[in-house]
Amino acid sequence: MHLDGAPRDRRSGVGASVLASRLAECGLAREASGTLLLSGVSLAAIVAGVGTPTYVYDAAAIRRRFTVLDSAFGDLPHRVCYAVKANANLAVLRLLEQSGSGADIVSGGELLRALAAGFPADRIVFSGVGKSDEELAAALATGVSRINVESLSELQRLAIMVETGVGSCTIGIRINPDVTTDTHPYISTGKGGLKFGLPLDQLTTALSLLDETPGLRLGGVAMHIGSQLLDVAPYLAGLDQLLAALGTVRAAGHQPTVLGLGGGLGIRYREESPLEPAEWIAPLRETLVATGCTIEVEPGRYLVGNAGVLVTRVLHRKHSGGREIAIVDAGMNDLLRPALYQAWHEIVSVESGEAPTGLLDVVGPVCEIGDFLGLERALPALRAGEHLAILGAGAYGFAMSSNYNSRARAAEVLVEDGRWAVVRPRERLTDLYRDEIADPFADEQP
Ligand code: LLP
Repeated sequence: MHLDGAPRDRRSGVGASVLASRLAECGLAREASGTLLLSGVSLAAIVAGVGTPTYVYDAAAIRRRFTVLDSAFGDLPHRVCYAVKANANLAVLRLLEQSGSGADIVSGGELLRALAAGFPADRIVFSGVGKSDEELAAALATGVSRINVESLSELQRLAIMVETGVGSCTIGIRINPDVTTDTHPYISTGKGGLKFGLPLDQLTTALSLLDETPGLRLGGVAMHIGSQLLDVAPYLAGLDQLLAALGTVRAAGHQPTVLGLGGGLGIRYREESPLEPAEWIAPLRETLVATGCTIEVEPGRYLVGNAGVLVTRVLHRKHSGGREIAIVDAGMNDLLRPALYQAWHEIVSVESGEAPTGLLDVVGPVCEIGDFLGLERALPALRAGEHLAILGAGAYGFAMSSNYNSRARAAEVLVEDGRWAVVRPRERLTDLYRDEIADPFADEQP
């Protein structure tokens, strides 16, 4: 991915067989009529019922991904804690909870969601670089499994809160291993100088602080080095630092039982070759076993990314400056990834499986040049009123959506066993300004 100005997602199209395997990978197939099915359910039927734009998630795919990841650990003691930030819909959370997942949360809002979806407190880990006192207090009151601290200042706050309040709590220390990853710079979080993780040279100070606070127990050391990682090398490099940290804390008399590798396992959006979970864990296994720790991972994207599509309707066709443009009803407020990370998402017609007839810019209705879903995409002839499916939209899609341009956020639908159900209705436009006060000083005397 690139950050240097002009969007780089242009290409003249993929071969039919690449596209077919990409569709299959995302649980999509076509009926004889050409209509797209997600896990056997017609996307056209769904949007005929709920309109567009709509996110549709495939429950079976999420369950399958969880099982594949969970099994990759074999008999190595481990816990998978789903990173709620990737897709926080309660239905998605509930099915992961039922699969046996824990929850990795980063805010008080995610804590409430995780609890509302049924996660027991002892399967919730509170990560995040900037937790407020209110959020820390809520986590302490809930009795979450662990609070992963990322700075000395946070540790000091927590020490005061524990001493003056609940009395005890288990923490983890997320270190900054200072490793580089080959991913978009905005999602490469393991490098020194960034806001993430405790720098290793501050670890002994953190341990002294722990010694002074008997109510704080060190339950784990962890890292999270980045997202959409396609290679095991940065995990190996990070693990070296993590083991050094583990050695330091053990030498200081602490007995953490959890080693956290973070999330970050990448997926295929286009032509990437992502690691299978087994390929991820195998090169680390021996080292992990030797630690005697329970291994914790916090995947988000891997579990839900390719289990969701965003369906949008073509509003208008336009020809301008030699380019063919389809203006659709989903914009950067619905799916921010192309605008923010120049991310590539495959785009296919919902109604037609026919061969491409030309290249189209698929753009949203928001008043920004960066409001595009894909540029120069090979697509069949498209008319206003037809629909497109944006693939790989299950992670960081709805979760990052906004009301920019006073647009209501999309509906969300879950597909399972040939059925579909709305799991979040489309927002109502009047709700967007319901709590605003147009004339705040109306009652004041002149
Ligand atoms: N753990 C921590 C502490 C994290 O910060 C993250 C993601 C994860 C786990 C899960 O990472 P994953 O397995 O999903 O890669 N909005 C960006 C991704 C931001 C990731 C932020 N942290 C995107 O759309 O690519």
